[in-house]
Amino acid sequence: MGITMTQTLHLADLAATEQFASAVARALRPGDVILLTGDLGAGKTTFTQGLARGLGIEANITSPTFVLVRHHDHPGNGPNLVHVDAYRLSGEDELTSLDLETSLDNSVIVIEWGRGMAEALASSHLDIEFQRPGATTDQLITDFSDTNVDEHRTAVVTGYGPRWEGITII
Ligand SMILES: Nc1ncnc2c1ncn2[C@@H]1O[C@H](COP(=O)(O)OP(=O)(O)OP(=O)(O)O)[C@@H](O)[C@H]1O
Ligand SMILES: [Mg+2]
Repeated sequence: MGITMTQTLHLADLAATEQFASAVARALRPGDVILLTGDLGAGKTTFTQGLARGLGIEANITSPTFVLVRHHDHPGNGPNLVHVDAYRLSGEDELTSLDLETSLDNSVIVIEWGRGMAEALASSHLDIEFQRPGATTDQLITDFSDTNVDEHRTAVVTGYGPRWEGITII
């Protein structure tokens, strides 16, 4: 599956991440797969919350770390949202056992830590990597209420497969 688009976006603050998530939501159709990568606290779940809002899904999106997968139904005609956390999955076999293919007809599937595991799910996918400045182990953020915590993020967006050819997110 070849690269068909790339975009690097600078997200100055939470509002910018929210805008980015809305823009992705506008581009999405049922059957789309998004793989999210990035350090702890980089913004994968925050992005997914914005994406849900952008799709018109009012559910409370939390990190599905201990649940592996959460299904959020769309209240109207839009696609449902399937939110997966692959961090603790042992590999592709366990991902297959989640039976995500059956949701593809009427859902978009977002997989945190899905890179390297979920590529076979569909003929195309969008890979988004969030980068946080100073995200090294000696600079772990422990107090998110600290007003000095840098809100700056970078999102590297890479489209694989025919679905993303010629698409510009923002
Ligand atoms: N521009 C920004 N974009 C996203 N999150 C931001 C931004 N600025 C600050 N934050 C904060 O960074 C944190 C991101 O946490 P989040 O749970 O989304 O990360 P994650 O990548 O899902 O981490 P994990 O790997 O632990 O699941 C939140 O507390 C959020 O408020
Ligand atoms: Mg998360």
